[in-house]
Amino acid sequence: MQKLKVEICRGTSCHLLGSQELLAAVKSLPPERQEQLEISMLDCLKSCRQGPNVRIDGKVLSGLTPEELVLLLQDDNAVAAD
Ligand code: FES
Repeated sequence: MQKLKVEICRGTSCHLLGSQELLAAVKSLPPERQEQLEISMLDCLKSCRQGPNVRIDGKVLSGLTPEELVLLLQDDNAVAAD
């Protein structure tokens, strides 16, 4: 099964806007769910003002709270590519 790619921006703006909290939220998911994810950090998604930014399977999502990200990643279909 292909893993869902989750890339969290750790650039300066996103860091200041809460990217570490997003990473902590992803790490709080059950281990069996985390195993289905490919989690990485990247330097900038060029949408700094809308941060914190996360790219999930190529789709950039801006301004998510940790709670919103957890809800999205709990649901297999919520971030399915169109
Ligand atoms: S620092 Fe995150 S989009 Fe630029």
